[in-house]
Amino acid sequence: MSKFNIIGGTPLQGEISISGNKNAALPIIAATVLTDEDCVLHNVPQILDVKSMLAILENLGKKVQIGGNTVKISGAVTHTTPSQVLVSKLRASILYLGALLGKCREAEITPPGGCVIGKRGLDIHSDVFTGMGVHLDLSTITYKANLSEEKDSYLFLQEASVTATENALLLAATLPKQTIIDNAACEPHVGDLAGLLVKMGATIEGIGTNRLKIKGTQKLRGVEHHIVSDNIEAGTFMIAALCTQGDITIKNIVKKHLITPTFYMNLMGANPEFIDDTTVRVRYTSPLKAPSRKIQVGLWPGFPTDLMSPMVVLTTQAEGNTLCHDWMFEARMFFCDKLVGMGANITICDPHRVIVNGITRLKGQHLSSPDLRAGIALVIAALMADGCSIIDNASLIDRGYENIDNRLRSLGAKIQREA
Ligand code: EPU
Repeated sequence: MSKFNIIGGTPLQGEISISGNKNAALPIIAATVLTDEDCVLHNVPQILDVKSMLAILENLGKKVQIGGNTVKISGAVTHTTPSQVLVSKLRASILYLGALLGKCREAEITPPGGCVIGKRGLDIHSDVFTGMGVHLDLSTITYKANLSEEKDSYLFLQEASVTATENALLLAATLPKQTIIDNAACEPHVGDLAGLLVKMGATIEGIGTNRLKIKGTQKLRGVEHHIVSDNIEAGTFMIAALCTQGDITIKNIVKKHLITPTFYMNLMGANPEFIDDTTVRVRYTSPLKAPSRKIQVGLWPGFPTDLMSPMVVLTTQAEGNTLCHDWMFEARMFFCDKLVGMGANITICDPHRVIVNGITRLKGQHLSSPDLRAGIALVIAALMADGCSIIDNASLIDRGYENIDNRLRSLGAKIQREA
């Protein structure tokens, strides 16, 4: 199992370009099941979760050709039962349920895997499919699903679940009926999937809002698509620049997708400088202060839960008390005990809330990455800590960050991968 050896204390400096959005690439790869025509995807991040998603596609009979960040997908699916081993590697594999139902009107899939950050149920997915006329049994080891009736549907999502919204979109795009989704998730990656489905032939109104109206067609066409930039990766590099007292110019961003992280950074006195809509320079100029209010995750466009772990690390470098609150995932904050071990002054109030008292100097430690986002947060902590750190379970970080050690090294970081 690979690990990172990191010597802290070097300010990150230079230029970095942001990769394609992981959580857009995954549903978009699933969406290629919906057509037998060729699909060409650009700006696909080369990360482990994408590899797993493409492996499932191949397992289903599609042909996949990878050339750098471009992926060509061709052919038709030959069966509707993706491999249990592959499906268990990531949460996003549940998106093949919507895609296979859309294409074949039936599917048989085992429970998805994914980062252990909370309960992560499938009840909203079940509500969605049942509401769309699918017979689905989640009580057995293998989930068997078949579309028993094509009908107009009105769906109200009890929680604005990202993957449940995407599953609804994948099926609805193939139904020659009207589907309305209220309280839909409206993250940029959901919008990117919807935009792709429109290019493939579906009609979708309300993209980017929490009410989607879809009229589909079973004959969707092939598509060429450039995947949107990853706002979480951009926010991560912004935080890394500030934590290491560095100066990074971050390219290939979407400025409007970074409003909330920037809002909190401004409250802390960091003032990221947007050069234009696709470039931001983040330069540490003076000690940060705790924001005057709590940092709380929100539904889009609120503060993204996937940036909370790096943000907690940043607050260790802000003078005063910061309350950080992630109501969405019960285990998001568990990694904070590792920061405490590095010297951070953090009171863990309950599974969802921590109070961070900064500024503290961190010291290097032997750590293990518990999940993707906590893993990158620990990398940032190690990059600014005194001395050496070892971070085990590097592959968890590779799930979502392309070539992270090389890219950090290009900014001056002292980080080495050990197999
Ligand atoms: N939830 C349910 N039942 C469901 C679905 C969700 O109770 O059927 C709950 C979850 O337990 C959680 C909340 O609703 O409390 C949000 O879950 P959601 O379904 O939105 O999460 P997800 O679709 O599984 C996606 C991202 C996650 C990201 C969340 C929230 C993908 C592939 N994953 O997960 O990304 O944290 O939305 O924005 O899009 C990551 O990239 O590190 C990551 C975990």
